[in-house]
Amino acid sequence: MCGIVGYIGHREAYPVLIKGLKRLEYRGYDSAGIVLYDGTDLKLSKTKGKVSDLEEKAEKEGTLKGKIGLGHTRWATHGVPNDVNSHPHFSNSGNLVIIHNGIIENYEPIKKELIKRGYTFKSDTDTEVLVNLIEDVKKKENVKLGKAVQIALNQVVGAYAIAVMDKQKPNEIVVARLGSPLAIGIGDEEFFIASDASPFIEYTSNAIYLEDEEMAIVRLNKPLKVHKIKDDSEVDPYVQELQMNLEQIEKGGYEHFMLKEIYEQPNVIKDTYRGRLLANKGIVQMAGVEDNLEKFLNAERIIIVACGTSWHAGLVAEYVLEEFARIPVEVEYASEFRYRNPIINKDDVVIAISQSGETADTLAAIKLAKENGAFVFGVCNVVGSSISRETHAGAYTHAGPEIGVASTKAFTTQITVLTLIALRLAKANGKMSNSDYQRYLLELELIPEKVEEALKSNEVAKEVASIYKDATNCLYLGRGYNFPVALEGALKLKEISYIHAEGYPAAEMKHGPIALIDESMPVVVIAPNKGHYDKVVSNIQEIKSRSGKIIAVVTKGDVQVKELADHVIEIPETNEALTPLLTTIPLQLLSYHIAVMRGCNVDQPRNLAKSVTVE
Ligand code: AGP
Ligand code: GLU
Repeated sequence: MCGIVGYIGHREAYPVLIKGLKRLEYRGYDSAGIVLYDGTDLKLSKTKGKVSDLEEKAEKEGTLKGKIGLGHTRWATHGVPNDVNSHPHFSNSGNLVIIHNGIIENYEPIKKELIKRGYTFKSDTDTEVLVNLIEDVKKKENVKLGKAVQIALNQVVGAYAIAVMDKQKPNEIVVARLGSPLAIGIGDEEFFIASDASPFIEYTSNAIYLEDEEMAIVRLNKPLKVHKIKDDSEVDPYVQELQMNLEQIEKGGYEHFMLKEIYEQPNVIKDTYRGRLLANKGIVQMAGVEDNLEKFLNAERIIIVACGTSWHAGLVAEYVLEEFARIPVEVEYASEFRYRNPIINKDDVVIAISQSGETADTLAAIKLAKENGAFVFGVCNVVGSSISRETHAGAYTHAGPEIGVASTKAFTTQITVLTLIALRLAKANGKMSNSDYQRYLLELELIPEKVEEALKSNEVAKEVASIYKDATNCLYLGRGYNFPVALEGALKLKEISYIHAEGYPAAEMKHGPIALIDESMPVVVIAPNKGHYDKVVSNIQEIKSRSGKIIAVVTKGDVQVKELADHVIEIPETNEALTPLLTTIPLQLLSYHIAVMRGCNVDQPRNLAKSVTVE
């Protein structure tokens, strides 16, 4: 995700836009840009780096004058963070200029067609393709900007919140949205455009939030008209009076970034498989995998290196890759791998998983693997990060910036990418039947709505949290695919509530941990109705017979565990291999509420950093 901002009115636009971008930096901060119409021309400055770097550049370049303009702070999805790929982007003629938040999935075929028609491209972004598509439509159909945008958007697939200006008609801004947020602030003879209300809340509390598939032409001295992109039909806009303050807006109305990011998971999982999973066509397509398919298929083994939550995602990937593609997988703590003189063969494939893309131990493990001739594939959330540049190829998660130190949406989007890879490999090497393959694709496509359903367990999780918030220890148990989820649940609780927690394979209880069980020991048991369910029930009975307090995550409609557990939190049913995407949700919520009730700093827990760039 990124931040878009626009202004048209009686003020000088520059200070409004720059301050607005600073307010939106939490949405993305790898590069920034601004464009203003100064009365004769569109003046643009943009740069890799923060908004403060943009300020320096704009002041040097004199991009300061004008009462209409656009600004953008980027979280790259297509094209590494650099000056050229930063927004705004001009069309070939230089007449049109665009800023965009989202992903144009079918930008490649559109780009190919535009190149055939003589268009050239400076950047690697999908956004530059969109502004030239709009220009192409405008020329061919001989229509104004608004109509050209409407026609062009009916040709694209993906997510967008865009603002477009035309130098030849510099008294209006055309905006449109599908899947990414866009708010219009309505002032006194002035309009503000932004990804959320934080850039304009100090000027006006009256706002229109465009709905999906809506667009508007924003111009002074004209009533604001909202249209449906599909058929240009007019929509009656709902003007609301905002009650939120600045901080609440940045957190999307949530109390903490962590809770906001937990609730973003349905959308960001969808963003992560957008353009990569075409279930009804039976297609999984990821350029980084396609270009290196033989390396994956000929691999003697796959070694996964990561730290923390990313290491837990790697453990889930081990189960999925071995089950689906029958390729041997080893999962290594990067910090151990880099120092234990491991055996690395040149036909090994190493997968490095990292949200930040800057974790020192993971980076060092990658370098060691490369020195030994292995092919290294990265799964990162930050485009252009060190790990994404150090690996031979990779696939990004599209989780957007994860501000909370405790990883949540990074974990589920990492699992999404790794599951897509496992499915692609299983299809390629024939280890999975076509019917199973198709079944998994269709089920994976349903996961966002099932995560939405799992999030409804929030109130139950909060209730359970209130009972156990003063616990001093906690055990998390899971089997199979959910053993890594037990580890992840324990890590979440540890790192934000400071309660000691341990994750274990449920069957390991007998080998020691059961000695810990008594009435003061809450035990979280992950017990979906798939994969060794009966054995998990036996483990629960063992705990119950020793007076342990049982909090069970169960599949909706479960009866057997409900009779045994002290508390149950329900999730929707799904395939066994996809259960981690759902079972982790109640554990995130449980740890969040316990930490809040204990008065902990949920977004910045003590002693922790978001990115461990040192050993
Ligand atoms: C998890 O909640 C922590 N923030 C931490 O364990 C984190 O997963 C680990 O430091 C790895 O970070 P990375 O994914 O950015 O490499
Ligand atoms: N897909 C566009 C790009 O990579 C916009 C990314 C965003 O939403 O920040 O430039």
